Amino acid sequence: MIETTAPGKIILFGEHAVVYGQPAIAIPVSQLRTRVVITDDAPYSVLDLPDLGGQFPITAKPMEGEEPLMAAVREVQAYLGLSQLPPMRITLTSDIPIASGLGSGAAAACAIVRGLLRHFAQDATNETVNELVYNVEKLYHGTPSGIDNTVVTYEQPLFFMRGKEGKGVREAFTVGAPLQLLIADTGVKSPTLVAVGDVRRQWLDAPEQFERLFAACGEIARRARGAIERGDLLEVGRLMVENQAVLRAMTVSSAELDTLVDTALAAGALGAKLSGGGRGGNMIALVTNESQEAVAAALSRYSHNVLQTTLH
Ligand code: PMV
Repeated sequence: MIETTAPGKIILFGEHAVVYGQPAIAIPVSQLRTRVVITDDAPYSVLDLPDLGGQFPITAKPMEGEEPLMAAVREVQAYLGLSQLPPMRITLTSDIPIASGLGSGAAAACAIVRGLLRHFAQDATNETVNELVYNVEKLYHGTPSGIDNTVVTYEQPLFFMRGKEGKGVREAFTVGAPLQLLIADTGVKSPTLVAVGDVRRQWLDAPEQFERLFAACGEIARRARGAIERGDLLEVGRLMVENQAVLRAMTVSSAELDTLVDTALAAGALGAKLSGGGRGGNMIALVTNESQEAVAAALSRYSHNVLQTTLH
């Protein structure tokens, strides 16, 4: 039996602009995980997704409209040159909410890819896994920057810049003082592909205006890295508020996200912004020991799912 897991993630700074070459900061959320178990107890090869209530036979050739997670299996098949998988059961379970900006798709692909490579006793280095997960992300997202696959594969906080074929510039950074974050779900599912496509259309219509917005996000991400390294939490919070204003100008916020941001700030958060593709999904707020309880209570009035995570 092979068992692998992969974490969720949040983008602290720079989503969307990172697609256009600006730096962004992402961190893993290790308490939210996707698990894959591979066993030999099946008469044929099957992808078992109990959370989605389905078992999907792994056919030799891809079928039209097949379960999207099958793409991760196909990617490994192609990498290993296997026309058909031997009988096996690949069971995937996850506690990462889907289509919420928490990287559920990347984490699922990562756990499947790593599990299958290990099953076939193949090189499952982070570099190989990252490359294959990026290929899967391309199917989900169209023009992914590579930040999601990279942060869930390496499971470390990253200052990231897009590179060729998902091989971005990946810099680890130090954290001067722990960042206590609350993650609140709007409950609105929002596929990243749609938000990314809308930003692209607006950029094509008004390139200069959007280039300026992207550059502003890049500058915020660079300053945020310095503030995180120095442990300057007030500045990190201010920069989150600035980043949120730019994301609103890109039209990727929403009424629900704005309500959560305003609620967090009014209850004493140092900063708050959407995280990920936007239009729905999650909002993140920076809190302290003193403000955490009040902010979480205020957010719970509008969100059914408020999580806490700390970046050390
Ligand atoms: O997968 P999400 O919703 O967390 O968004 C990914 C971040 C984007 O910058 C919007 C897209 C990308 O490929 O970087």
